[in-house]
Amino acid sequence: MKRVEYVDRFVSDVFRTIDDEKWLFRAVSHSHAVSRFAYLLALRRGEDAEIAAVSGLLHDLYAYEHLDYNDHAHLGAVRAAEVLTLLGMFTEAEIDVVRAAVWHHDDLDRTDGPMDEILKDADMLDNSLTRPVDTLKPHEQMRFRTVMSELGIVQCIFNQ
Ligand SMILES: [Fe+2]
Ligand SMILES: [Fe+2]
Repeated sequence: MKRVEYVDRFVSDVFRTIDDEKWLFRAVSHSHAVSRFAYLLALRRGEDAEIAAVSGLLHDLYAYEHLDYNDHAHLGAVRAAEVLTLLGMFTEAEIDVVRAAVWHHDDLDRTDGPMDEILKDADMLDNSLTRPVDTLKPHEQMRFRTVMSELGIVQCIFNQ
């Protein structure tokens, strides 16, 4: 089994404990969507696609464990590092990369490291494709257009 599958199994076990249907749906769909978008963006940008996929799976785990988004990026960074340490199959350097990416994933108005930006863009992509446009923050809209352009997608949902 691949390392990302162990992480998937871990988060899926957490998600199975969520009683609230809306939170459960969000946890399962968003975590996996962000993981796959992050995987593709990492391949596109020449970064570690496996670590990107792992970051996507873990990025909102803290929020789903507590049913609370308050400061979940920072609290979640600690939680993500804990989970990866517990699994015992990731190096300290890899754990640091995931920790930083989760820590920064809500800082859409600034530019951080390559993996941080991959996670921000992957998170933004799923949000942009699943939420009404008028609920998106200006930085999300700006990033959406930038990533669509990077991917060579000119006609996107914002244009419809
Ligand atoms: Fe988040
Ligand atoms: Fe998210």
